[in-house]
Amino acid sequence: MAELTNLETKLGEVLGLAMAAQGATEKVKGLDEIDGDLTKTLERMHNEAKQAEERATDVAGSFEGKKTAILEEAREVKKKATEMMQDYLDSDSDALDGFEFLTMAEAGEVGHWEILKTLNERARDSGVQELVEWGIPIQQRHLEQVRQGSLKLAAEEDPNETS
Ligand SMILES: [Fe+2]
Repeated sequence: MAELTNLETKLGEVLGLAMAAQGATEKVKGLDEIDGDLTKTLERMHNEAKQAEERATDVAGSFEGKKTAILEEAREVKKKATEMMQDYLDSDSDALDGFEFLTMAEAGEVGHWEILKTLNERARDSGVQELVEWGIPIQQRHLEQVRQGSLKLAAEEDPNETS
Protein backbone atom coordinates (compact mmCIF):
# COMPACT_ATOMS: atom_id res chain seq x y z
CA MET A 1 0.00 0.00 0.00
CA ALA A 2 1.27 3.45 -0.94
CA GLU A 3 2.52 5.59 1.95
CA LEU A 4 0.36 8.61 2.66
CA THR A 5 1.47 12.15 3.46
CA ASN A 6 -0.12 13.90 6.43
CA LEU A 7 -2.36 15.79 4.02
CA GLU A 8 -3.52 12.61 2.29
CA THR A 9 -4.12 10.88 5.65
CA LYS A 10 -6.20 13.81 6.87
CA LEU A 11 -8.20 13.74 3.65
CA GLY A 12 -8.87 10.04 4.35
CA GLU A 13 -10.04 10.88 7.87
CA VAL A 14 -12.41 13.59 6.64
CA LEU A 15 -13.75 11.13 4.08
CA GLY A 16 -14.22 8.40 6.70
CA LEU A 17 -16.11 10.76 9.00
CA ALA A 18 -18.40 11.72 6.10
CA MET A 19 -19.12 8.01 5.56
CA ALA A 20 -19.83 7.48 9.27
CA ALA A 21 -22.04 10.60 9.42
CA GLN A 22 -24.45 9.00 6.96
CA GLY A 23 -24.92 6.01 9.26
CA ALA A 24 -25.17 8.24 12.34
CA THR A 25 -27.88 10.53 10.92
CA GLU A 26 -29.81 7.45 9.77
CA LYS A 27 -29.54 5.85 13.19
CA VAL A 28 -30.63 8.98 15.11
CA LYS A 29 -33.57 9.49 12.74
CA GLY A 30 -34.94 6.16 13.96
CA LEU A 31 -34.82 7.04 17.70
CA ASP A 32 -37.93 7.84 19.78
CA GLU A 33 -39.19 11.43 20.01
CA ILE A 34 -37.68 12.68 16.75
CA ASP A 35 -40.16 15.23 15.35
CA GLY A 36 -40.65 16.45 11.77
CA ASP A 37 -38.22 19.39 12.03
CA LEU A 38 -35.45 17.26 13.46
CA THR A 39 -36.11 14.64 10.78
CA LYS A 40 -35.70 17.30 8.08
CA THR A 41 -32.45 18.51 9.64
CA LEU A 42 -31.13 14.95 9.79
CA GLU A 43 -32.10 14.23 6.19
CA ARG A 44 -30.32 17.34 4.94
CA MET A 45 -27.24 16.45 7.00
CA HIS A 46 -27.32 12.93 5.59
CA ASN A 47 -27.49 14.30 2.08
CA GLU A 48 -24.60 16.69 2.64
CA ALA A 49 -22.50 13.93 4.22
CA LYS A 50 -23.08 11.89 1.06
CA GLN A 51 -21.98 14.85 -1.09
CA ALA A 52 -18.91 15.28 1.13
CA GLU A 53 -18.07 11.61 0.60
CA GLU A 54 -18.38 12.00 -3.17
CA ARG A 55 -16.35 15.21 -3.33
CA ALA A 56 -13.61 13.90 -1.01
CA THR A 57 -13.43 10.67 -3.04
CA ASP A 58 -12.94 12.73 -6.22
CA VAL A 59 -10.13 14.68 -4.55
CA ALA A 60 -8.56 11.41 -3.33
CA GLY A 61 -8.56 10.25 -6.95
CA SER A 62 -6.54 13.32 -7.95
CA PHE A 63 -3.57 12.06 -5.85
CA GLU A 64 -1.68 9.88 -8.30
CA GLY A 65 -1.45 6.28 -7.08
CA LYS A 66 -2.81 7.11 -3.61
CA LYS A 67 -6.55 6.68 -3.99
CA THR A 68 -6.66 3.09 -2.70
CA ALA A 69 -4.63 3.92 0.41
CA ILE A 70 -6.69 7.06 1.13
CA LEU A 71 -9.91 5.05 0.85
CA GLU A 72 -8.41 2.39 3.10
CA GLU A 73 -7.67 5.07 5.72
CA ALA A 74 -11.23 6.37 5.31
CA ARG A 75 -12.78 2.95 5.88
CA GLU A 76 -10.68 2.49 9.01
CA VAL A 77 -11.89 5.83 10.40
CA LYS A 78 -15.49 5.03 9.45
CA LYS A 79 -15.22 1.75 11.34
CA LYS A 80 -13.86 3.42 14.50
CA ALA A 81 -16.45 6.20 14.39
CA THR A 82 -19.26 3.68 13.88
CA GLU A 83 -18.02 1.60 16.83
CA MET A 84 -17.99 4.74 18.97
CA MET A 85 -21.60 5.38 18.00
CA GLN A 86 -22.60 1.81 18.79
CA ASP A 87 -20.95 2.08 22.22
CA TYR A 88 -22.65 5.39 22.91
CA LEU A 89 -26.15 4.64 21.62
CA ASP A 90 -27.90 1.51 22.83
CA SER A 91 -31.47 0.26 22.73
CA ASP A 92 -32.46 2.61 25.61
CA SER A 93 -31.22 5.72 23.79
CA ASP A 94 -33.70 8.47 23.03
CA ALA A 95 -33.58 11.46 20.69
CA LEU A 96 -31.63 13.59 23.16
CA ASP A 97 -28.95 10.89 23.49
CA GLY A 98 -28.80 10.79 19.70
CA PHE A 99 -28.36 14.54 19.36
CA GLU A 100 -25.74 14.56 22.11
CA PHE A 101 -23.80 11.97 20.17
CA LEU A 102 -24.19 14.00 16.96
CA THR A 103 -22.90 17.10 18.80
CA MET A 104 -19.66 15.23 19.56
CA ALA A 105 -19.48 13.79 16.05
CA GLU A 106 -20.08 17.11 14.28
CA ALA A 107 -17.57 18.90 16.54
CA GLY A 108 -15.09 16.21 15.47
CA GLU A 109 -15.93 16.79 11.82
CA VAL A 110 -15.47 20.58 12.08
CA GLY A 111 -12.11 19.97 13.76
CA HIS A 112 -10.91 17.55 11.08
CA TRP A 113 -12.01 19.77 8.18
CA GLU A 114 -10.24 22.78 9.70
CA ILE A 115 -7.08 20.74 10.27
CA LEU A 116 -7.18 19.63 6.63
CA LYS A 117 -7.48 23.29 5.61
CA THR A 118 -4.52 24.25 7.79
CA LEU A 119 -2.33 21.44 6.40
CA ASN A 120 -3.26 22.57 2.92
CA GLU A 121 -2.10 26.14 3.59
CA ARG A 122 1.43 24.84 2.96
CA ALA A 123 0.59 21.96 0.60
CA ARG A 124 -1.52 24.25 -1.63
CA ASP A 125 -3.47 21.53 -3.41
CA SER A 126 -6.26 23.18 -5.40
CA GLY A 127 -8.65 20.22 -5.10
CA VAL A 128 -8.29 20.15 -1.31
CA GLN A 129 -8.70 23.92 -1.19
CA GLU A 130 -11.97 23.78 -3.10
CA LEU A 131 -13.17 20.90 -0.92
CA VAL A 132 -12.52 22.66 2.40
CA GLU A 133 -14.01 25.94 1.20
CA TRP A 134 -17.16 24.04 0.31
CA GLY A 135 -17.20 21.77 3.37
CA ILE A 136 -16.21 23.86 6.38
CA PRO A 137 -19.27 26.18 6.43
CA ILE A 138 -21.49 23.11 6.02
CA GLN A 139 -19.83 21.27 8.93
CA GLN A 140 -20.09 24.40 11.08
CA ARG A 141 -23.81 24.58 10.29
CA HIS A 142 -24.19 20.87 11.14
CA LEU A 143 -22.60 21.46 14.55
CA GLU A 144 -24.84 24.44 15.22
CA GLN A 145 -27.96 22.52 14.13
CA VAL A 146 -27.29 19.48 16.29
CA ARG A 147 -26.42 21.74 19.23
CA GLN A 148 -29.74 23.57 18.79
CA GLY A 149 -31.52 20.24 18.34
CA SER A 150 -30.13 18.90 21.64
CA LEU A 151 -31.10 22.09 23.46
CA LYS A 152 -34.62 21.95 22.05
CA LEU A 153 -34.98 18.32 23.15
CA ALA A 154 -33.48 19.13 26.57
CA ALA A 155 -35.95 21.99 27.05
CA GLU A 156 -38.82 19.56 26.43
CA GLU A 157 -37.50 17.06 28.96
CA ASP A 158 -38.84 17.07 32.55
CA PRO A 159 -35.73 17.47 34.75
CA ASN A 160 -37.49 15.86 37.72
CA GLU A 161 -38.73 12.78 35.95
CA THR A 162 -36.93 9.51 36.74
CA SER A 163 -35.95 7.44 33.75
FE1 LIG B 1 -21.42 16.86 9.40
